[in-house]
Amino acid sequence: MKKQKIIVLTGAGISAESGIKTFRDADGLWEGHDVMEVASPEGWRRNKELVLDFYNQRRRQLLDVTPNEAHIALVNLEKKYDVHIVTQNVDDLHERAGSSQVLHLHGELLKVRSTFDEDLILDWKTDLNIGDFCEHNHQLRPHIVWFGEMVPLLDTAAFLVSQADYIIIIGTSMQVYPAAGLIDYVQANIPIHFVDPNPAVSPRDNLTIHKKTATEGVPKIVHSLLSL
Ligand code: APR
Repeated sequence: MKKQKIIVLTGAGISAESGIKTFRDADGLWEGHDVMEVASPEGWRRNKELVLDFYNQRRRQLLDVTPNEAHIALVNLEKKYDVHIVTQNVDDLHERAGSSQVLHLHGELLKVRSTFDEDLILDWKTDLNIGDFCEHNHQLRPHIVWFGEMVPLLDTAAFLVSQADYIIIIGTSMQVYPAAGLIDYVQANIPIHFVDPNPAVSPRDNLTIHKKTATEGVPKIVHSLLSL
């Protein structure tokens, strides 16, 4: 029998209990920076060194943290369901936990790409510096979707969401478009579970809100889905 499809939309909140700060916790500042300085094409043009340094710090921090109970619970869901994770996070904690189908809407911290050819993407686990060039001799940049840039995997994500039998949304403020608009692709009558200690969604049919942290809420939902 064909497995039912569960699409899990995750945001910064799922990684908070692993020790990675969310974006909107501290007055629009992200680890002490205005997000437009470090996460926009204008910021990159103005000060490449600052942007590279910012992502170098994020990359180093990522090597110090580990997946939490929420990431791990989602892996168990694969025993019974066809699970696709669509994450806004650039960390690799879903992959390290063991999830097998992960789509990164906003890019990946452990990859870089050429500023000459956006399809030239490389794995990168250490610092990225001015003078680190691609094979065409152009500066490499973080493989991150910055504010104002296209989200190349959006159509793939929207299609997955439209095919879902269940949706789980975890730890996102649902403020950043186009990612926040993915919920509009969910078909009628599909159950949606939303886990967030400070949930910012309007009530809608079939939406169950779990006002809990990810590590409290996600294992319980997974347990009940596995016992259906
Ligand atoms: N468990 C679950 N959710 C949590 C937890 C936790 N322990 N701690 C905080 N949260 C929730 C917050 O209540 C908030 O709703 O996580 C959400 C984090 O929201 P944001 O910081 O806005 O993160 P996110 O929605 O992922 O941001 C989207 O914005 O800056 C851009 O590109 C960046 O991908 C990012 C996008």
